[in-house]
Amino acid sequence: MYPYLFSPIRINRLEIKNRIAYPALGLAYSHDRRLNERYFNYFREIARGGAGIVTVGPVGVDVLGAGFLVLTLDNDGAIADFKRLTDAIRREGASPWIQLFHAGGYSHPILIDMQTPMAPSAVFSNYSRTTPRAMSLEDIEGVQEAFAAAARRAREAGFDGVEIIASGGYLLTQFWSPLKNQRTDDYGGSFENRARFPRETIQKVRAAVGAAFPLGIRMAGNDFVPGSNSDAETPAIARVYEAAGIDVINVTGGWHETRVPQLPMDLPRAAYGYLALNIKKAVSVPVMASNRIASPDAADRLLRDGYADMVNLGRVLIADPFWPQKAFEGRAAEIRPCTACGQGCSDQVFSGQAVFCAGNPRAGFEAERIIGKTDAPRRILVAGAGPAGLEAAVTAAQMGHRVEIFEQSGDIGGQLWLAGAPPHKQEYLEYIRYYRAMLNRLAIPVHLNTPVNAELIQSRKPAHVIAATGAEALRPPIPGVDAEGVLTAWEVLRANPPLGREVAIIGGGAVGLETALFVAAKGTINAETLAFLFTYRAAAEERLRELLFNGSSKVTVFEMLPRAGGDVGRSTRWVLFERLKQYGVAIETGTKVTELTARSVSWEQDGGVGCRAFDQVIVASGSRPVNPLAARLAALGIPFTAVGDCTGPRKIQDAIHGGFLAALNLDQKQGVAA
Ligand SMILES: Cc1cc2nc3c(=O)[nH]c(=O)nc-3n(C[C@H](O)[C@H](O)[C@H](O)COP(=O)(O)O)c2cc1C
Repeated sequence: MYPYLFSPIRINRLEIKNRIAYPALGLAYSHDRRLNERYFNYFREIARGGAGIVTVGPVGVDVLGAGFLVLTLDNDGAIADFKRLTDAIRREGASPWIQLFHAGGYSHPILIDMQTPMAPSAVFSNYSRTTPRAMSLEDIEGVQEAFAAAARRAREAGFDGVEIIASGGYLLTQFWSPLKNQRTDDYGGSFENRARFPRETIQKVRAAVGAAFPLGIRMAGNDFVPGSNSDAETPAIARVYEAAGIDVINVTGGWHETRVPQLPMDLPRAAYGYLALNIKKAVSVPVMASNRIASPDAADRLLRDGYADMVNLGRVLIADPFWPQKAFEGRAAEIRPCTACGQGCSDQVFSGQAVFCAGNPRAGFEAERIIGKTDAPRRILVAGAGPAGLEAAVTAAQMGHRVEIFEQSGDIGGQLWLAGAPPHKQEYLEYIRYYRAMLNRLAIPVHLNTPVNAELIQSRKPAHVIAATGAEALRPPIPGVDAEGVLTAWEVLRANPPLGREVAIIGGGAVGLETALFVAAKGTINAETLAFLFTYRAAAEERLRELLFNGSSKVTVFEMLPRAGGDVGRSTRWVLFERLKQYGVAIETGTKVTELTARSVSWEQDGGVGCRAFDQVIVASGSRPVNPLAARLAALGIPFTAVGDCTGPRKIQDAIHGGFLAALNLDQKQGVAA
């Protein structure tokens, strides 16, 4: 399977066993810049899963450029810990690499004891929300020496290769960018001058590690920032890197400040492969592609079609470290999906919290959440085949319990079907693909259209019941809400009924806003039609934009709070609002709906009142737990655990983690990894 993915490659004189690299990814597992057991356990698991390269990083070359949440290698005393880590990664069969990091003007003062970060020029950064000080020539030399010294230490610590970060909008990118580099000395102005800092840094690092040591750089394939370097300029930048002694170029997308999504599921799978190809055409060293290379098919295609020589799998391996092994063994359907939801990774790191994974309960908890084989296999009945029930069932079966699932509807998946319905949210349906494959592999019987009642429980005599009966849409207490024809968001997402021209959605939380997109996208052209019209120049750019975003319904969202989308994660919020704007969705905040019918809405806003006719009114006001089993089971004296939304409104990670932990807790004792 996947012959391109699993062929070896040479970087400088190092042979890598396959084309899969785990890239640097801030985890925030320590607050003292040092490695700890959590890091060790995490990296061991990533390496064990079969990636060719495992990159430890970001690792700061000094504190000012990194902050206390980032690992640093700024003194020889740190070498021993890193040595232990490289040994562990190598023992698991992967090649340990390190990413050396300096954020420049992206350093957050709050993470560097309120010092002022430094950058090529004193230009305000929207990311760190601060104005850095311009680097003196001594600063420039100092940082370059710090890179060289950290690289020498990395080599001593047993790393096989060093990667310098020149992407994301960090220090080296800042020197390249006319927006951030306004220097008038030898380090600013012309291309040649803006190249000076990166080139000298690479040369000093090369001198520190020697000619045979693999040296990589991670670059932005396009800054995606108006006025900065686009993919018209980046090939020339790559040529500078190659000439300066770089052995491999890792191409990713833009900066933190860009308004083009780099991480969310809006970004199509492997979409930035074209950026890697753009660089590959300019250089002769191997090139890596990055971002949302979610499936083995997509990864193999990137390699086969010549976009890149290697692929980076970041969040993808957090969601399933064993992605490479499963792909190799032809078990791709059993790969836990990375939906790019960002809830456990980007949302966490952007608020200084430790990374976990919404879909993989073990990520970041590798040592304590071990699926042990049970000594006492028992009959476990799982009621409900939403994500909580499915995760509990799969985990309990892996532990060796005899599991059966009962689901009252006609299919597994529960609310995943709703989550995956709006445009660009289809990745959520990947969970259903995964659980189907696991149910199949573990031969777990699933009884559809079968609600769990007292007779069923008595006939099955389970030793334990996992109650995962979910929730139902809540109708808010507004006069008229029960009138005929008023739909809930869930009904709309599930059944996709015709809605008419003017549509009102009552409730501007995540579900209301996603439903607004779902409705607004009706009647718009799809990507294939767009490509067709574009190919034959059948419409002007403005008309294409109109066709993409102007569909058959006009949507107005009414939100009582002063701000809509308060429950949407930080890293995806702006993307959602950008989409809503593009689709022309009107959002009325601070607006209390006082009465409604299926075709009208009355409201109070700023002390005034309003009333308007619509073709369809939809309510999106959260959900109510459904847990009819708890009382019944208690009466029958059967032990049970309630998980997921039947215990209250939860997020996807609560459902999956809750299901997982409910299964682990079936056994007091926990054994070796399954
Ligand atoms: C929480 C988080 C932290 C990251 N930190 C870094 C970093 O320090 N250095 C870096 O080069 N990329 C970093 N990245 C980018 C990832 O390496 C990767 O390119 C990105 O997640 C897209 O690839 P993926 O879709 O496979 O995850 C980070 C990404 C996330 C989600």
